[in-house]
Amino acid sequence: MSIKVEDYFAPATFQRMKAFADQHETPFVVIDLKTISDAYDQLGKCFPFAKVYYAVKANPALEITELLRDKGSNFDIASIYELDKVMSTGVGPERISYGNTIKKARDIRYFYEKGVRLFATDSEADLRNIAKAAPGSKIYVRILTEGSTSADWPLSRKFGCNPDMALDLLILAKQLGLVPYGVSFHVGSQQRDIDVWDAAIAKVKVIFERLKSEDGITLQMINMGGGFPANYIQRTNDLETYAEEITRFLKEDFGDDLPEIILEPGRSLIANAGVLVSEVVLVARKSRTAVERWVYTDVGKFSGLIETMDEAIKFPIWTEKKGEMEEVVIAGPTCDSADIMYENYKYGLPLNLASGDRLYWLSTGAYTTSYSAVEFNGFPPLKAYYL
Ligand SMILES: Cc1ncc(COP(=O)(O)O)c(C=O)c1O
Repeated sequence: MSIKVEDYFAPATFQRMKAFADQHETPFVVIDLKTISDAYDQLGKCFPFAKVYYAVKANPALEITELLRDKGSNFDIASIYELDKVMSTGVGPERISYGNTIKKARDIRYFYEKGVRLFATDSEADLRNIAKAAPGSKIYVRILTEGSTSADWPLSRKFGCNPDMALDLLILAKQLGLVPYGVSFHVGSQQRDIDVWDAAIAKVKVIFERLKSEDGITLQMINMGGGFPANYIQRTNDLETYAEEITRFLKEDFGDDLPEIILEPGRSLIANAGVLVSEVVLVARKSRTAVERWVYTDVGKFSGLIETMDEAIKFPIWTEKKGEMEEVVIAGPTCDSADIMYENYKYGLPLNLASGDRLYWLSTGAYTTSYSAVEFNGFPPLKAYYL
């Protein structure tokens, strides 16, 4: 299989990124901010009724948060550190949601003191902490959803609770003096099956109805999380198709008068803007007769490519070398045998690929820099340049 760059980048954009890359030593990721800006605009066109809360964890670089701040985005924040970073750019607390359901009481208090009033939860212990540390705040409860088999990077099992428990928590929120505000879900990152939103929205509808009819609680918001796709090897529907279908599901359940809708995109906004550039360190065979080559490169699982764990995310890899292709195992530079990116899924790279040649890992703008290890084997964290 050979990768065509034009399937992933407009030729002029890639040329600009490559010209920049040619001047810099590997490994690094280069990120095109215009691509992010366009992706944000496209999301707004596709979901004109939704408020966007950028999931900062996808890439917390100031270049990105400042760009999205200026475009009017809100921010989904996972920790006090992300909070400080985003607020240091002048973003006000009314544009922030504390979306992590796993948090210390003192961190809740920190958010509250900074002025944040919107909190996710999925457990009674956390809810009681919020009631004490952030009195009167708006609460949304995250529910468990299906879809873990069709998402390349599933999230659902660790977060969320059963809808019955969500009901209990929202009722308890009211009793504790909080505002039961809404329901959230995340169908799994890089979710390829659009229908899982249908099932999730239907669960939300039941919670809205039950609370209204049985407990006199009117919820106001649905937070549909992330899950929208980036362009990797395994193709997906385009965002327009996701939006058309998801809008239809929402209207089927809630009619034309939708509650407040929040989206928390990470991957789909950022990934397509990045190219990670690495250099081949060695090409080797394990025996005289081995058919398969091992390609060791100067970036790996510990320097930005952790999402290759279990070969979950299959990044498109392009090289300038042309010619006959042969199957390879692709591995990183560290002395750790877990540092193999692809072994089962057979990537093909040209037979004439040699030490010093460059590999271009496309669609690597999200979840690369933020996952990179600090000093494993002495290698520095992944460098990033923003164009
Ligand atoms: C609470 C929350 N919202 C949004 C996201 C972003 O999801 P995605 O990158 O699939 O857009 C994540 C990802 O982990 C998340 O945990």
